[in-house]
Amino acid sequence: MITGKYPSLRLRRSRKSDWSRRLVEENNLTPNDFILPVFLIDGNNKKQAIESMPDVYRYSLDKITFIVDRAIKKGLPMIALFPNTQKKKKNYLGTEALNEDNLVCKAIRLIKKKYKNEIGIMCDVALDPYTSHGHDGLIKNNYILNDETNKILIDQSLLQAQMGCDVLAPSDMMDGRIGEIRKSLDKNGFKMTQILSYAVKYASGFYGPFRDAVGSKGLLKGDKKNYQMDFRNSNEALREVALDVKEGADMVMVKPGLPYLDIIRLVKDNFKIPVMAYQVSGEYSLLSNGIKKGTIDDHAILESLISFKRAGANAIVSYYADKLDKILK
Ligand code: PBG
Repeated sequence: MITGKYPSLRLRRSRKSDWSRRLVEENNLTPNDFILPVFLIDGNNKKQAIESMPDVYRYSLDKITFIVDRAIKKGLPMIALFPNTQKKKKNYLGTEALNEDNLVCKAIRLIKKKYKNEIGIMCDVALDPYTSHGHDGLIKNNYILNDETNKILIDQSLLQAQMGCDVLAPSDMMDGRIGEIRKSLDKNGFKMTQILSYAVKYASGFYGPFRDAVGSKGLLKGDKKNYQMDFRNSNEALREVALDVKEGADMVMVKPGLPYLDIIRLVKDNFKIPVMAYQVSGEYSLLSNGIKKGTIDDHAILESLISFKRAGANAIVSYYADKLDKILK
């Protein structure tokens, strides 16, 4: 591989000027590489700041066109909807998930009516925005039930597909749910609705600001370690992906992003399937707050995002997705 040696060979030669660095660049980003998360909230005329996430907001439905227009103008292929559900609508079973007039369902209908197929809509399939205990599934004796939770996830998926959701993204980490959701979609006439499985989702300390954004933070009892993955493991990630591919996932997600670049690469090398990476809220918050304080250079954002591409990600879910013009400059 090395075809010469110092002093005739100098790798710094091709780094000496900007045009030359651009000429030999191996990875880059375009808007097509991004999915923008959008937080929804009840009420009118609201664009509500989220304390731990500078420049990220919760939007009421009458303001939703502002952020969707923005996403389309920036050339983003897809947005991901996340509801901040009012406390009084949350309960032990998360029944609000199956209400066809919940925030997410109303938002999908609104966006699809106005924008048709101009932009893709992705929705999480999981119960955590709707349960009074903040977990992704049903609980019995402090254990998150698997098969009983799947039954509700199937209904939630079908409902979101009926509303017009393009990409269902189960983020709950129950076993077997991809296959069961696929089967029910096919049976009910939604053969073309895509599934992006959060196949590799770790029980992470980086989700804090998101739980704040969707209002599940103070509610969460215990942790999610008996369903989300142990961050000590990587072989297990391959088993998770293998199962979800077999069950019919169209794409898989690795989450969080930056601490798991090795996993993105592993999955990409072992499965020729689109791999998405989620630069999660804690990563966003660390970077953005560090830059605000001046302890981190702002090009650290580009540096982090490119690392996902270098690791093999096809696209990145990122709260920076609508702020790329500045970052790429
Ligand atoms: C919930 C869900 C979480 C995120 C996306 N979907 C949090 C969790 O599992 O507790 C995290 C996203 C982020 O931190 O940006 N199923």
